[in-house]
Amino acid sequence: MEALPTHVLNDDHSLPSVGFGTYPLVGEQGTAAVRSALEAGYRLVDSAVNYENEGVVGRGVREFLAASGLDRSEVTVQTKLPGRHHDYERAIASGYESLARLGLDRIDVLLIHWPNPSRGLYLEAWRALVELRERGVARSIGVSNFPARLLREIIADTGVTPAVNQVEMHPLFPQEELRAAHADLGIVTQAWSPLGKRQAPFEAPAVADAAARCGVSPAQVILRWHVQLGSVPLPKSATPERQVANLALGSFSLDEEEMRAISALARPDGRLFGGDPETHEEM
Ligand SMILES: NC(=O)c1ccc[n+]([C@@H]2O[C@H](COP(=O)([O-])OP(=O)(O)OC[C@H]3O[C@@H](n4cnc5c(N)ncnc54)[C@H](OP(=O)(O)O)[C@@H]3O)[C@@H](O)[C@H]2O)c1
Repeated sequence: MEALPTHVLNDDHSLPSVGFGTYPLVGEQGTAAVRSALEAGYRLVDSAVNYENEGVVGRGVREFLAASGLDRSEVTVQTKLPGRHHDYERAIASGYESLARLGLDRIDVLLIHWPNPSRGLYLEAWRALVELRERGVARSIGVSNFPARLLREIIADTGVTPAVNQVEMHPLFPQEELRAAHADLGIVTQAWSPLGKRQAPFEAPAVADAAARCGVSPAQVILRWHVQLGSVPLPKSATPERQVANLALGSFSLDEEEMRAISALARPDGRLFGGDPETHEEM
């Protein structure tokens, strides 16, 4: 099986090509799901203050590292600052709180969850993440749900470019323009809801035909499409078999025509719930 490419971030740290989504995994089942995902081979785990699961994510990671004997540096743990913590001092404190809940030596990747433009505090939040990186609370910093204009604004303000932007992306909403902006700026794209929360067009001929040709599932075709586009999908699954399948993307590849056909499933209104970050806000 071909090894999937690793991304080198603009701060020279590296990022696996597929990550594990953890919303809404909580409690004992959450820890078990994180552990089984790590046992299946995931090396990037996505969390957020607002998922209320940093505690069990951190526990799952610690248990896995203890049982496997792997070095802490093998696993990248990512979390996100919520909208209600954008104020500079609050954001600094929030980073320390996340670190304590994770129970790890550092947050590997810390993101601003949503920009909430009408509140006007995303610049403060970004300055706080820069400071948290300086202090070693976070190793790498980035954002989520930032349109290109806001990326440019925080870069101009601080001189610091986010390492990643985690955005909604699936075949109905492939984010072509934003990915081009990321390529210009040196930002890695992470894809949330990469399977469209199971609403992705699994049965569309573009997906189903490629799945039949490659002898894989439609979900695997869609995840491979993400990887070939250079984005990092973060599929969530509570099911160990699906966790394994969602990572088994190295034994087949999509040809150019298949890639084009899947991207052509895009729709102008393809977002899952109208979550346009210029207007949609989450606290
Ligand atoms: N930054 C943000 O604003 C934001 C927003 C949304 C999500 N996220 C992150 O992105 C992650 C992924 O997004 P998501 O959870 O919304 O959606 P998703 O990963 O696209 O879809 C998850 C759903 O698909 C099912 N599934 C997983 N693998 C499958 C397979 N091989 N075949 C069929 N169904 C499959 C899962 O069910 P089972 O669990 O039963 O397998 C679950 O119902 C989240 O967990 C979270 O970490 C971030």
